[in-house]
Amino acid sequence: MTQNAKKFYVTTPIYYVNDVPHIGHAYTTIAADVIARYKRLEGFEVFFLTGTDEHGQKVQQAAGKLGIRPEEHVDRLHQRFKELWTRLNITHTDFIRTTDERHKKVVREILTHLHDTGEIYRDSYEGWYCTPDERFWTEKDLVAGNCPECGRKVEKIQEHNYFFRMGKHQDWLLNTIRDNERFIQPASRRNEVLGFLGRPLEDLCISRPKERLPWGIPLPFDEDYVTYVWFDALINYISIHGGLEEIRKSGFWPADHHLVGKDILTTHAVYWSTMLKALGLETPKNIFAHGWWTVNGQKMSKTLRNAVDPHRLIDQFGVDVLRYFLMREVPFGQDGDFSHKALIGRQNSDLANNLGNLLNRTVNMMQKYFDGSVPEPASAGEEDAALTARAQEVVGQVRQGYEDLAFSRILAKIWELVDQTNQYIDKTGPWNLVKTEDGKKRLQTVMYNAAESLRTLAVLVYPFMPESANQMLTQLGVGQPVEAGGMASVEAWGGLQPGSQVKTGAQLFPRIDDKAAAKILAQLEAPEAPPAAPAAEESGPEAISIEDFMKVDLRTGKIIEAEQVKKSKKLVKLKVDIGTEVRQVVAGIAEGYAAEDLPGRTIILVANLKPAKLMGIESQGMILAASDNGKIILAGFGEEPGKGLRVK
Ligand code: ME8
Ligand code: MG
Repeated sequence: MTQNAKKFYVTTPIYYVNDVPHIGHAYTTIAADVIARYKRLEGFEVFFLTGTDEHGQKVQQAAGKLGIRPEEHVDRLHQRFKELWTRLNITHTDFIRTTDERHKKVVREILTHLHDTGEIYRDSYEGWYCTPDERFWTEKDLVAGNCPECGRKVEKIQEHNYFFRMGKHQDWLLNTIRDNERFIQPASRRNEVLGFLGRPLEDLCISRPKERLPWGIPLPFDEDYVTYVWFDALINYISIHGGLEEIRKSGFWPADHHLVGKDILTTHAVYWSTMLKALGLETPKNIFAHGWWTVNGQKMSKTLRNAVDPHRLIDQFGVDVLRYFLMREVPFGQDGDFSHKALIGRQNSDLANNLGNLLNRTVNMMQKYFDGSVPEPASAGEEDAALTARAQEVVGQVRQGYEDLAFSRILAKIWELVDQTNQYIDKTGPWNLVKTEDGKKRLQTVMYNAAESLRTLAVLVYPFMPESANQMLTQLGVGQPVEAGGMASVEAWGGLQPGSQVKTGAQLFPRIDDKAAAKILAQLEAPEAPPAAPAAEESGPEAISIEDFMKVDLRTGKIIEAEQVKKSKKLVKLKVDIGTEVRQVVAGIAEGYAAEDLPGRTIILVANLKPAKLMGIESQGMILAASDNGKIILAGFGEEPGKGLRVK
């Protein structure tokens, strides 16, 4: 294999497949995409990996509840991540699922290797087990007798298990982290890991008895056990390349960045590093633990009810605005609180007023003064040198910023160039220059420079806002996309070809006025709004506000199973797929519909109704239907919609 091309490897965590993807997952994945796109502009061959973590107790339990096999469950669920990444313009090279044959094969290869080399041993084990977290704790880990991580009850369990000799690598790991500042970042998190390693490091239990947890990868040397989910999941970073031999030859190891949230830094910095050491592989060059997003100061939970759904934000604001906001608003590494208001603020100020306006006025003036043709620079003035020098300086600062993954700082620097270019136009005053013959010469230079600065800006914003960046180039009359020119195209001033034809295009970032903003906020925040619950007498019986109506979460769903409830004339038990999950619903429609005719029908479900029991069976929602003198007619659509759509 040749190693001539500069290779670069960036990863996201592989997300638990049973979570509904929210802005937290989108955050890490967008950050990785920004890095990947930037590195490609620098000429690297980039391998960008993301995927889903599909084994473990929670998945098994969830599938069990639905009465389906875990395989079927994960096949459905992992699609939600893939769909979101497509909408977010994520350019991952591959998508790994821990249920892929190619992954399981390498996990077993690695387990065999570690077992053969004595790095894995069997022992009896007694510990406290937190079922929801699937984690063992020692007596001294417990907080007030409960799980130190989630505060829930733990169970005492004694069993035989297999252990990875993690403890013996403690000193090596401490030294490696101490000697290498870039290994674990940011510095505050690195100190936390060093603190953790100040206590004795124990060996890691890497098996679970199959009788307790069948949904996992069997140990190759003892089929009565499956592999602990974390031991399974971490290996994804090398299984994607085919195995131990293959990763060494691939040119993609050691990985350049593992991006993770702060919640999973220990598993990466400690478990993964020591696993690699035992395998004789180098540790990754960098593990970066970013901060945590909350919403209105609260933790986002699993259901979409109080997590921010990226799809809704994309519908409302567009992909690039969301990507920009998440990367700009909070310095990478720090925690942040999400607010729709702040998002609208960024769209209006940074995007519409500053960048969008700069592009519009430049293209419009070019049309007006030069028939849309980029002029040849003619007479120079003192303002020019400052602008061109600044552009070159910003290119350097942006490159430097990527070394530290300081996305927010990178964008702040880019916007200094946006502001300076706007000021350059204000100072030189094209509308006055056009009035005299000398002025017109000067105007040629001014318009050229403004456009050339915008061309530079397009390349610099591309990793964050790829669609907008290429639209900018199109409007400026540049014939090739950012991907073709790369960073090399902004290393020197003057790449824009005089004589190119600019094109007036759509406003890239429309301004949202106060009235529209209020409406958007009411809509987006409605499901999360605390119940206002005015007394019926006070508010009057008939009219409700739009906010009240929006509290009802109506979703499209497809009936996938239906069965008449025994001993009931009216009730049918249904399984309804609402895209994000499958709900069990008991509906009083048996007198209108035969159970066998129901599967395949699209219905409307009230998705945020409190679960209720009907004849002892839990119903997780209500289906909309009309009753015409006792004849039941299901509400539906003239045209077939997709699953899980909001009905308003
Ligand atoms: O931990 N703010 O998967 P997971 C910021 N399967 N980032 C967030 C976030 C939030 N509120 N919520 C989630 C797992 N994330 C394992 C990983 S890797 C070998 C196995 C992001 O679905 C962040 O990157 O719980 C966090 O680390 C990750 O999602 C956790 O995803
Ligand atoms: Mg998690």
